[in-house]
Amino acid sequence: MDSDKHPLRIGLIGFGCVGQGFYDILQQQPHLGLVTARIAVKNPVKPRSLPAEHFTYHADELLADPGLDVLVEVIDDAAEAFRLVSTALRQGRRVVTANKAMLARHLPELVQLEQQHGGTLLYEAAVCGSIPVIRTLDAYFSHEPLRAVRGIFNGSSNYVLTRMSEEGSDYGPALAEAQARGFAETDPSLDMGAFDPRSKAVILAAHAYGIFLNPNEVLNLGIEAVSAADMAYAAARGQKIKVVASLQRLADGHVTALVTPQLLGPESPLFTVEHEFNGVLIEGEYAGPQFLRGRGAGGHPTGSAVLADVLALRRGLRYGYAKRATAPAVPPTAELTLDVYLRHADAGTLREVLAWLELPTEAQDSDDAGSYATGTVPLPRLLQWRDELRANNVFVARRGEVRAGEVAGATDYHHYPVAEVVNM
Ligand code: HSE
Repeated sequence: MDSDKHPLRIGLIGFGCVGQGFYDILQQQPHLGLVTARIAVKNPVKPRSLPAEHFTYHADELLADPGLDVLVEVIDDAAEAFRLVSTALRQGRRVVTANKAMLARHLPELVQLEQQHGGTLLYEAAVCGSIPVIRTLDAYFSHEPLRAVRGIFNGSSNYVLTRMSEEGSDYGPALAEAQARGFAETDPSLDMGAFDPRSKAVILAAHAYGIFLNPNEVLNLGIEAVSAADMAYAAARGQKIKVVASLQRLADGHVTALVTPQLLGPESPLFTVEHEFNGVLIEGEYAGPQFLRGRGAGGHPTGSAVLADVLALRRGLRYGYAKRATAPAVPPTAELTLDVYLRHADAGTLREVLAWLELPTEAQDSDDAGSYATGTVPLPRLLQWRDELRANNVFVARRGEVRAGEVAGATDYHHYPVAEVVNM
C-alpha cells in the first residue's frame, strides 16, 4: 500500500474515449496525488488533444519502466490488451483494465497470474461504466447467495432503442448518434449484436457466482434487425424492448447466463433505464432485491470508474472471488426454455425460422405491420441457430425469464452448457 502523500505514477496505455476521459478527470483533481507519467498510443499520425511529446508509440516501454506504479490499459484491441496485461501481471505489477472482451475470454488465466506473481488486476470500468457493480458483487455480496443478477449492460444499444421507441428515430441514424457520442465500440456490431453485454455478463458471473463461463457458450441475441414494427408491438402491450443480460440461479443450484432483447413492462425497474444509462438488478437470498443505475458508457463516466480503481489499488484493494469456493462443480442437467417473440419482414422466411426452432406453424400471427410469431423454445436450440438468426435478420425477443423443462417433446437437444468451472 502506498502513502497518499507519495504521488502515484501512472502509465496510461490508450488515449481513446476512456483514456482521455480518465486523463481529463485527473487533470481536474490534482489533489488526488496521481500523475500520468507516460502515455502510450498506437497511431503516431492520429490527431490528439495533447502535443506529441506526451506520447510514446511503444506500449512495451511502459512495461519496461519500473518507475511506473500502476499501468492503466484502455485500448480496444483485445488480443494486444491481453498480451500487455498478462505481461504486466507476470511482472507482479498493479494493473487497471477496461477491456471487457479480453477479460471475458481470459479471466481464469489472469486471476491465476495475479495469484502466482503477486500483482493486482482491477476492472470496474469494464462493466456498466460508472456503476460500481463489480465491487458490490465481489465485496459487499461476497457471502450472499444470489438468486439473480439482471440488467442493461450496454449503453449504445439502449441508446438506439430509446431513440427508436421514444422519438421514432430509425435504427441507422440512432446508431450513428450513439457512435458520435462516444458510446459505441470501434466495431459497433459488438454492441448491437450483444457481444459486448455478453462479455460483461461473463465477468459478473465470476464475482456473483464464482463461475468462469466460456463467452461463446452464452446465448447472445442483439438488435441489429429491430424495426418500428417491433417497437409498435411492444408499445401496444404497454411494454418496451430492452437488451437484458440475465444471470439466474436455477432450482438445482446451477446458474444460467444469456443476453437477449426482452419485452418489459413498467413493473421492471429496467423499464425506465433510457439512453446510455445501464441498470443492474441484484436479487439476494437474504438482502432481497436491489437496483443500481448509472451511465454505462462515455469517456467521463468510464474514466471515473478507472480512477476509482487506481485509488483502490493505492489502498491495497484486491478482488476476493469469494464465491469460487461454492461454485457449481458439474454442468447442469436442467432443460431450459424461453418464451420468445420473433419477427421477419418476409412471412416465408419467418415460416422457415419456425421450422428451425421446431415451433408449430400456428405460432405465426400477424398485425398491421406484418407477420410475427410467439412460442416456447428450448434455450440450446436458440444457441444452435443463433448465427443463422443473425445472418437472416430475424429479430428475437424473450417474453420472460429462463424456465426449466417445459417444452413437450423437447428431448432431442443437448443440455445448455451454462457453467464451465475452471480449477485454479
Ligand atoms: N460500447 C459500450 C457500451 C461502452 O455501449 O455500453 C461501455 O462498455
